[in-house]
Amino acid sequence: MNVQKEGLGERDMAFTPTQRLHLGAEAEVWKGEWFGKPAVRKQRRPRSWRHPNLDHRLGVRRMISEARLLIRTRKAGLSVPSVWDLDYEGGQLIIEHLQGQPLIDVLNDATTTQEKAKATLQRIGHAVRRLHREATTHGDLSSNNILIDGEHVHLIDFGLASIEYDVERFGIDLHVLDEILGASHPQWEGAIDWVIEGYLAAEEELGPAPALQGGSVPSAKEVHTRLEDIRTRVRYHG
Ligand SMILES: Nc1ncnc2c1ncn2[C@@H]1O[C@H](COP(=O)(O)OP(=O)(O)O)[C@@H](O)[C@H]1O
Ligand SMILES: [Mg+2]
Repeated sequence: MNVQKEGLGERDMAFTPTQRLHLGAEAEVWKGEWFGKPAVRKQRRPRSWRHPNLDHRLGVRRMISEARLLIRTRKAGLSVPSVWDLDYEGGQLIIEHLQGQPLIDVLNDATTTQEKAKATLQRIGHAVRRLHREATTHGDLSSNNILIDGEHVHLIDFGLASIEYDVERFGIDLHVLDEILGASHPQWEGAIDWVIEGYLAAEEELGPAPALQGGSVPSAKEVHTRLEDIRTRVRYHG
């Protein structure tokens, strides 16, 4: 492989890979070090079934969007990885590696107590509401994309995140998590209710979401009501 042609320039060497974390359809994700600090490299993978130029454009756009929204939400004080480098022509993003156990492991761990599960899911609801207050939906709130580090909740994988103001988009964001909790973690019945408790509590604590440049985001209560609507719709129309 001709490294230069692939767009992997000299600064790629600043990242030393140590362990492959994930090989997905869109990206290959490695843990490693970047200037001596624990880092993660997301390398976009070409998808052969699409036209190479179109594929490249879509991949570049998504990677820039991911970096942009990570920077935006981190600035707003959310616990998301710092962005350290972006080589969008080469299709790679270098971000801070965050400690923690994926939510999926916490919920599947037989030693996890009810109190711990409840407190964790409430904190997740709180974190998701803080994200939504920044007019940002995550787009893929699965139990792999939430890291639990003691009492801290980190949100990762902003590849499908977007800026939104429409209540439906926020409702769908919660519904994705709702479906995953129901399907993959049925032993925690009512898990989504704990998430919603935290989601509503965040608003109580922080006050109404301030209006942003692009408009105002729906309130936590409005999003909750919409989630109930979406659930009813799904139940009756599959
Ligand atoms: N910043 C990070 N800190 C720690 N682990 C991470 C980080 N980013 C990704 N990972 C790990 O790598 C996996 C895949 O990364 P992710 O960004 O979710 O890519 P994909 O879009 O392929 O799902 C995650 O589920 C997580 O286990
Ligand atoms: Mg992911």
